[in-house]
Amino acid sequence: MTKKLYIKTWGCQMNEYDSRRMADVLKPLGYETVAESGDADMVILNTCHIREKATDKVFSDLGRIRDDKAAKAERGEKMIIAVAGCVAQAEGEFIAQRAPYVDMVFGPQTYHLLPEMVAKADGTRRVINTDFPPESKFDYMPAPEAKGPTAFLSIQEGCDKFCTFCVVPYTRGAEYSRNMAAIIDEAKALRDQGVKDVTLLGQNVNAWHGDKGESLGDLLFALNEIDGIEQLRYMTSHPRDMHDRLFEAHTLPKVMPFLHLPVQSGSDAILKTMNRKHTAAAYIETIERLRALRPDIAFSSDFIVGFPGETDAHFEETLALVRRVNYASAYFFKYSSRPGTPAAAMGGLVREEVKTERVHRLQELLNQQRLDFNRSLIGKTLPILIENPTSHPGQMYGRTPYNQGIHVEAPVHLSGRIALVDIQDANLNSLKGTVSVAFEALAAE
Ligand code: SAH
Ligand code: SF4
Ligand code: F3S
Repeated sequence: MTKKLYIKTWGCQMNEYDSRRMADVLKPLGYETVAESGDADMVILNTCHIREKATDKVFSDLGRIRDDKAAKAERGEKMIIAVAGCVAQAEGEFIAQRAPYVDMVFGPQTYHLLPEMVAKADGTRRVINTDFPPESKFDYMPAPEAKGPTAFLSIQEGCDKFCTFCVVPYTRGAEYSRNMAAIIDEAKALRDQGVKDVTLLGQNVNAWHGDKGESLGDLLFALNEIDGIEQLRYMTSHPRDMHDRLFEAHTLPKVMPFLHLPVQSGSDAILKTMNRKHTAAAYIETIERLRALRPDIAFSSDFIVGFPGETDAHFEETLALVRRVNYASAYFFKYSSRPGTPAAAMGGLVREEVKTERVHRLQELLNQQRLDFNRSLIGKTLPILIENPTSHPGQMYGRTPYNQGIHVEAPVHLSGRIALVDIQDANLNSLKGTVSVAFEALAAE
């Protein structure tokens, strides 16, 4: 009998990938994914602990799901409620106490154990598993099921960098790299299901290393050889792990001309107390070296505003770095103190109003750069992998090589194909285009 599985995902792409893998693992047990939680037999909340707000959302959702569970119980039906992901890892016991109706709490490194954990919870025993098992979950998971022509492929997990603001080294554990042959097999399995665009994922993706000392650059060279895989992307990178071979990989035709390279701050003093272990100048040098190799490469970044001790002068240095780099897109966050991290004990807290004012200034600058970048593409013809129809008839969704979303006037039969698209319009959030006449003629042949 099929059972209904509802998964809600917060946080980074790694969590999105993990949610899909959990569905893959639960499929042999008869679970099919559904879009609504109300009537589900099992609800998994895959959570994020990165900032305080992300964590709060979990408890507000749990309240609602508890009511659904109670309604089902009245009909004599069961619902298993599970909390997974980084909040589960960080606050497992606390969730168990505060929300006694939760049946399962388990951390990101235990997903391969789901079948046995579900069997236990089905027998109405509560499961709490926040271990870091010695084995890698990846070695015990079935091949992933592709959903369309793009896919994430997780190659590395965990982090040994210990930036002073960040929970990831505690929630995901020590840095771990997957075996190169397994990654290539997974890429081929995705390709066999029609995937053309693969984004390699890792909390520190460029810290990936193979058993024989291979680096991410070597891996990209190997993946570039796989027929049928046409586009390669990777995230998230740390500026300290940009090795020579990775620079070289940016000359490969399949490696997209886009890099998300978080800098967090443009001030050396703040970078130091963040434990980022690089300077603003070294970061800019990396950007310039990549631009020399691939002149059209576009960059994005993450910024934290109002880190403890950040003065107006430090913040001005961040603005100066942004002006210097000129980003195509970026994410910015107000610093959020996380329990157990070294920064949580630091003095020099920045007042909320000051954070807000700085965030607005940074946002204004980054939005201007983003808009300018998007508009600079108008009039160009770009190869776009046509992904799926939008809610507008005759319109399809895709992403540019520079990672912007684009709405393309294109026939549905081009789904899963890379079309040449004339870019006609652009705003802050997306582009608009139409399949070029020359390409249509070619496609019709
Ligand atoms: N592994 C990635 C990103 C991890 S989290 C990296 O090294 O860049 C994604 C982003 O969240 C970070 O880049 C940072 O900008 C932001 N972030 C992490 N901890 C934060 C905190 N305590 N407060 C505000 N933003 C934070
Ligand atoms: Fe967090 Fe820093 Fe590791 Fe990124 S590199 S996951 S920001 S500790
Ligand atoms: Fe959040 Fe965990 Fe990802 S804290 S950002 S889900 S690694």
